[in-house]
Amino acid sequence: MIRSDIKALSAYHVPDSSGMIKLDAMENPFTLPDTLQEQWCKCLSGVDINRYPDADMAGLRGQIAARAGVHADQILLGNGSDEIIQMILMAVRAGTCVVPAPTFVMYDLISHWLQRSVASVPLTENFSLDADHFLQACGREKAEVAFLACPNNPTGNLWPEDTVRKIAEGFNGLLVIDEAYGPFAGHDHTHLIADNVMILRTFSKLGWAGLRLGYLIGEAGPIAYLNKVRMPYNINALTQASARFLLDHFDVFERQAAVIRAERERVTAALSGMSTVEVFPSQTNFVLLRIPDSDSAFEQLKQHGILVKNMNGAHRLLANCLRITIGTSTENDAVLTALKEILI
Ligand SMILES: Cc1ncc(COP(=O)(O)O)c(C=O)c1O
Repeated sequence: MIRSDIKALSAYHVPDSSGMIKLDAMENPFTLPDTLQEQWCKCLSGVDINRYPDADMAGLRGQIAARAGVHADQILLGNGSDEIIQMILMAVRAGTCVVPAPTFVMYDLISHWLQRSVASVPLTENFSLDADHFLQACGREKAEVAFLACPNNPTGNLWPEDTVRKIAEGFNGLLVIDEAYGPFAGHDHTHLIADNVMILRTFSKLGWAGLRLGYLIGEAGPIAYLNKVRMPYNINALTQASARFLLDHFDVFERQAAVIRAERERVTAALSGMSTVEVFPSQTNFVLLRIPDSDSAFEQLKQHGILVKNMNGAHRLLANCLRITIGTSTENDAVLTALKEILI
């Protein structure tokens, strides 16, 4: 009954984090200010949950489009950007999906669910991306779709604009530039949008992970085609109402992102001062570091009540690496103190 390749998969594992300092999933550690929380609850109390949500979401798309400097018909909304990755991989013609390695796992995973082949182009030792190699792989594989996470997860770096532009201009299939960590990075790629180049974004890393809302920006024509494989009512009524309200208070989240960026620099500097730590430059809300024994450090951090992501074993270039989300300054101090103790 069930396909054998599906039976062989392991389900996406989310570790139990109850009672722990949770620094494994790139969430924003800050909650809403109290006054905003009250107004938000009032706004939610007016939502008619007996009715299906607004299916077209023109108002919400308009608000998001205005922030992005595009038209509402250039925006497609998804239940998290994961759902948009799925829509893209369902709608694009059969043909290989090309991704760098290591990168965000869902491009590969969803491709496999949909029986699409994947080719990966290894990054160099310092996680840079060779645009020529990438384009050669796309040509060799006759690729129909490619994803570039800019900045990249889990390496944290942002490839130079020239590299991404070269791929955007040289690739004939659909290139998706995933800016999940854009709010923490130096530049974006909206200027590269073309019929075959789209920008994927999410509100998850900015403080709304629990709402599940992502969006794709592209030319209106291809966005309209992708909209045909969107589940009706994919964004629930509470998320829609929340997003419409919170977008009117977006300065709150921009200020929180600025605090996170400053904390990232502080954490990076502190880690660089530890003799057995190699910390990689990050333009995201997490840092990647290499230590002598990440399996043991991961377990010891758990004993200190801190959950991070152990990347050891995920890819050759990630040997003995930990990925640590930037938290509040207190949480960051806790992880730095624990690491100092563990690594002596
Ligand atoms: C590069 C990248 N893209 C997309 C996502 C998915 O985000 P969402 O919560 O919007 O599904 C993540 C989540 O970690 C990510 O790292």
